[in-house]
Amino acid sequence: MKKILIIGGGAMGSAFSIPCLENDNRVVVTEPYNKFFIKNLASKKKFHSSLKMNLPKKLKFKNYSKNIFKEKFDLIVIALSLAGIDFIGKELKDLKTKVPLLVLTKGLKYDKKRKKLLTISALLKNNYNVANVSVLKGPCLAKELARKNKTSVVIANKNIKVAKWIGKQISTKYYRTEFSKDVIGVEICSAIKNIYAMVIGSGQNFNTASDLFQKSVNEMKFLIKYFKGDELTILGLAGIGDLYVSAVGGRNSKMGDFLGKGFTFTAAKRKFMPKDTVEGEQLAREIAPYILKKINKKNIPLMVHLLKTIIYNKKI
Ligand SMILES: NC(=O)c1ccc[n+]([C@@H]2O[C@H](COP(=O)([O-])OP(=O)(O)OC[C@H]3O[C@@H](n4cnc5c(N)ncnc54)[C@H](O)[C@@H]3O)[C@@H](O)[C@H]2O)c1
Repeated sequence: MKKILIIGGGAMGSAFSIPCLENDNRVVVTEPYNKFFIKNLASKKKFHSSLKMNLPKKLKFKNYSKNIFKEKFDLIVIALSLAGIDFIGKELKDLKTKVPLLVLTKGLKYDKKRKKLLTISALLKNNYNVANVSVLKGPCLAKELARKNKTSVVIANKNIKVAKWIGKQISTKYYRTEFSKDVIGVEICSAIKNIYAMVIGSGQNFNTASDLFQKSVNEMKFLIKYFKGDELTILGLAGIGDLYVSAVGGRNSKMGDFLGKGFTFTAAKRKFMPKDTVEGEQLAREIAPYILKKINKKNIPLMVHLLKTIIYNKKI
């Protein structure tokens, strides 16, 4: 039995607790930001408003404070959205913890000072001095994981032994783990698939969507190579595995559908998805200053078009 701390009690952090508990671990979840999730997790029934189900009674909730890191954990999981990564980086900065860290968050950050795009693991290492970071990505809708629908995900670390150790603590029959050394490739794929899910969603019929799917895969392959990852990673769970699930379900492809119908992003958001976070939009705003300046649009025409659609609020 290991002791696992999950930082972030949103849909994914809470769903992730389920396979962890099933492996007989002691699992503590903490929520630093969202008062609705805090209310959900601290309640007796543990009814999670995003997952629309009760979480296991065995799941412990603790209020977030920096003191939580004084407890001894065997694994710390970060399940915050991209907006929370700098916050948790600052919190972890001077702790010099040797505990393995597992990042579930998907996305990339633009480092304005260095004028570079950073993966989350690179950001935690370079800007916040956080060591021993593994990442877990792949096709996994939180609601489905919480209901124990089968899926496979990939854990990446250059030191594959660490990745495998984590896999042993968290995998179940319905939540299988594969392993990769290509941390960059896995992180790049899992971030940009949100943008390509919008592109594919804009297709309006199966023929066009399939055409856009194939061209998206080519662009993703180019971008993995550009950022010095292994282009074969596109064929794995973090690549076409995650792209498929995001294109057939989820908020990014739904937004893509509205864009394809001729709405601007702002109009579609206001009319159809006022309360939804569209991760692809957040990522588009984050990476556009870099991508539009540094990469020749001939290599990634779909990405460039989608970024311009979002940031200039144009029709697709
Ligand atoms: N690796 C995987 O298999 C996998 C699967 C699904 C989702 N995800 C990723 O997990 C992350 C969370 O997704 P979710 O569905 O749980 O989202 P959610 O909206 O349900 O939860 C978001 C979490 O981030 C926190 N947060 C948001 N803004 C913050 C801020 N400014 N400061 C601090 N914390 C903040 C919230 O409090 C909450 O804990 C996303 O990056 C998503 O892409 C990963």
